[in-house]
Amino acid sequence: MRIVLFGPPGAGKGTQASLLTQKYKAAHISTGDALREAVANKTEVGLKAKSYMDKGELVPDEVVIAIAKDKLASVGDAGFILDGFPRTIAQAKALDVALADLNKPLEAVINLQVDDEELVRRLSGRRVCPGCKEPYHVESKPTQAEGVCDKCSTALIHRDDDQPDAIRNRLKVYNEQTSPVLGYYESKGILKNIAAVGGIDDIFNKVAEVLG
Ligand code: AP5
Repeated sequence: MRIVLFGPPGAGKGTQASLLTQKYKAAHISTGDALREAVANKTEVGLKAKSYMDKGELVPDEVVIAIAKDKLASVGDAGFILDGFPRTIAQAKALDVALADLNKPLEAVINLQVDDEELVRRLSGRRVCPGCKEPYHVESKPTQAEGVCDKCSTALIHRDDDQPDAIRNRLKVYNEQTSPVLGYYESKGILKNIAAVGGIDDIFNKVAEVLG
């Protein structure tokens, strides 16, 4: 499996990637998770990325392209699920070059479609495990014990960019800078649109059906 999970902030990319990884044994590559790890470790990349991420802006292309290439090179023969990358046409073109070098062309771009009102509801109620990165939601996907990850027992966090101002800006940035990437993949004939409303398992079944 060699796919991109595409969609606006809060569409469920991380949630579906976690399920797909279990079923298909592919590597989950999330540029958002990689950047948050760099911020937590106060690396040079992390220090540069933090101010962009807190405001909901995109981190500069050269930084995320380098991260994605590194991660792709490290998966070896395994398949991959890209989550949150690419987000600009420049990133999409750089990905094509990197995958051609690895002789691993993309098979599909799965676009999770959700309206803005539902995205705001999902992001405002999200809690995330900083350990294993599993996403939860206070209403639609609560943990068994309050505030603690079901998988690894780490205390959950509320992301800084899941505050109202940052959420609004992330949606604006998505519409202006990221949604044009859909046309790029549509013209290549590998774009698959999925109405990502309803239960998490129902959406997973739709994605699995499209992937065959
Ligand atoms: P990133 O971490 O990639 O954030 P994002 O794209 O905004 O996506 P999210 O993680 O917010 O949402 P998601 O679609 O994964 O949804 P989730 O499954 O968690 O990036 C963060 C920042 O890093 C960016 O703003 C940018 O600054 C930077 N960055 C990252 N990549 C970059 C790049 N390529 N270029 C430049 N900058 C980059 O679900 C959301 C919530 O909804 C959860 O609570 C979940 O439990 C719940 N939920 C999921 N599915 C359902 C459902 N069906 N019904 C009800 N609730 C649901």
